[in-house]
Amino acid sequence: MHLTISQLFARITATGLLAMASFSSLAQDTAPQTIDPGLMQSTRAIATQMLTELGQKLKAAVSTDGPLAAVSVCKEVAPSLASTLSAQHGLQITRVGTRVRNSKIGIPNAWQKEALAKFEDRLQQGEKPADLEYWQVAKNSSGQPELHYAKAIMVQPQCLACHGTVQDISAPMAEKIKQEYPEDQATGYSVGKLRGAVVITRPL
Ligand code: HEC
Repeated sequence: MHLTISQLFARITATGLLAMASFSSLAQDTAPQTIDPGLMQSTRAIATQMLTELGQKLKAAVSTDGPLAAVSVCKEVAPSLASTLSAQHGLQITRVGTRVRNSKIGIPNAWQKEALAKFEDRLQQGEKPADLEYWQVAKNSSGQPELHYAKAIMVQPQCLACHGTVQDISAPMAEKIKQEYPEDQATGYSVGKLRGAVVITRPL
C-alpha cells in the first residue's frame, strides 16, 4: 500500500498522540511499586506488634476475669492500641475481618478485600499463614503516594470462645455478643481459618 506524505504524517501523529495518551494515563494511575526495605520492615514490625500485644492482653484478660470480661479487650483495647500505634508512627492501622463483628470499623475496603482474597488463594496453595502479607503503593485522594500493607490474622484456639461455632461459644457469651453486636457475622470460624487482616495505610 502506498501512502502520500500527508497520509503518512497523519498516521505517525495519531500513533504518537495515542502513545502519549496512554503514557500519561499510566503515569497518573500508578505510583512506583518499589519501596524502601527499611520502611517495609518497620511497617511489618508495627503490624506484628499490634497482633502480639492484643494476643497477650486477651490471654491475660481471659485468665484473670474469664472470657465474658475479655470481650472488652477486643472491643476497647483493640481500637485504642490501634490509635496509639497510628499516632506514634504517623500512619493508620486497624483490623478488618473476612466476616465482621463491628461493622463500623471492621469492613474491608476495596484493596483490603483484594488482600484477603489473595490470602485465601495462597492458603489454598499451601502457603504458611505466617508468610501471608500483601502490599501495594497507591495514591490517596489528594494524589499523594501511600503504602497499603496487610498481614493475615489466623484463627487460633483462644479465639473460638468468641468467634467459633455454636459448640464453642457459651450461652452467656452468645447473649453478650448479641447484645453488643446485633449484626455480628464473625462466628462459625475454626482453627487455622483466615479471620481477617491487620491493615496499615502509610503515607510515603
Ligand atoms: C472474649 C471474646 C473474644 C475473643 C477471645 C476474640 N475476639 Fe475477636 N472480637 C471480639 C469482639 C467483641 C470484636 C469486636 C471489636 C470491636 O468492637 O471493634 C472482635 C473483633 C475482631 C476482629 C475485627 C474485625 C471484626 O470482626 O470486627 C478481628 C480481626 C478479631 N476479632 C480477631 C480475633 C482473633 C484472631 C482472636 C483470637 C486470637 C480473637 N479475635 C479472639 C471478641 C473476641
